[in-house]
Amino acid sequence: MRSKIKICLFGTPTLLMAICFSLVMLFTSCSGGDYIGEVNVYSHRHYPVDQEIFSKFTEETGIKVNVVSASADELITKLEIEGSRSPADILITVDAGRLEKAKQANLLQPILSEKLAQRVPSEFMDKDKQWFAFTYRARAIAYSIERVKPEEVKDYEDLALPLFNDRVVMRSSEHTYNQSLVASILAHSGPDETMNWCRGLTENFSRAPRGNDRDQLKAVAAGQGDITICNTYYVAKLAESAQAAEREVVNKVRILFPNQDNRGTHINISGAGLTRYAPNKDHAILLLEYLLSDEVQTKFSVENHEYPVIDGIELSPWLQEWGEFKIDTLPLFKLGKYNEEAVRIVDQCGWM
Ligand SMILES: [Fe+2]
Repeated sequence: MRSKIKICLFGTPTLLMAICFSLVMLFTSCSGGDYIGEVNVYSHRHYPVDQEIFSKFTEETGIKVNVVSASADELITKLEIEGSRSPADILITVDAGRLEKAKQANLLQPILSEKLAQRVPSEFMDKDKQWFAFTYRARAIAYSIERVKPEEVKDYEDLALPLFNDRVVMRSSEHTYNQSLVASILAHSGPDETMNWCRGLTENFSRAPRGNDRDQLKAVAAGQGDITICNTYYVAKLAESAQAAEREVVNKVRILFPNQDNRGTHINISGAGLTRYAPNKDHAILLLEYLLSDEVQTKFSVENHEYPVIDGIELSPWLQEWGEFKIDTLPLFKLGKYNEEAVRIVDQCGWM
């Protein structure tokens, strides 16, 4: 009898546990079972809007999006180490130079999609269709309204003039945004002019490079420098900040699109490539096509203030206010081609 009771007492919680376990499994399989597959994304992007876009894609297709975030260089090294065993399907970067680097390292493959071929303008598509841009960004000059007169500055080259001695703040040259800017100058003007510009610019620094693009804008607003170079969407992001001090920064700086009377303003891209061993290739292509949909292109523009690559997409009020500008039409792969030499030049100039 005693042993029977023992068995019953032992049996009841076991049964309860079994029921609980079954419920958990049922719940898990319901939520997990909704997925018809997955796609693995290695991404250097760091914007909240991306997660919204991936969630919406999952909702519409049933394909789960798994994201690994790191810098493009780290992700490229990861792809190299993983080789054919890599789970990655898509590489997303914020720099054409890094996508070109991945292509040259044989880490990508052609994206066979009629939709993409039709949607993406040729200047935003790699000639072998291994990567493409889904947005582009302008690297503009931002200056203090109080301490710089608009007529004093027109081109990137002006930041190296003695006029701006001890007045320039810049992000580190280790970041791809600046490396690609220097690569573009190198492609247009050659190594000697680029070296001279870089030396002049570096001599004009009012402080050692540190922080991101937003920090440079804040430094100009705070009087730690008078002028800088930054991607335009960071101005809009500061204007929309929840912090009053960040919103105030925007009242103290103006942006201008450089080199409008000559080669145009340097642009870079946010783009994606299909990895060479993509295990979920079909799902990956669906996601890449989704990034080019009107809906997602509008999101990139309206919520993240990036320029859509598709014509006729609604622009954010900030993009509308800044208006049209002349773009440097240097083929984007050259940002990769000249990267190594650009890095050598900034190192020699002492731009840390
Ligand atoms: Fe950025």
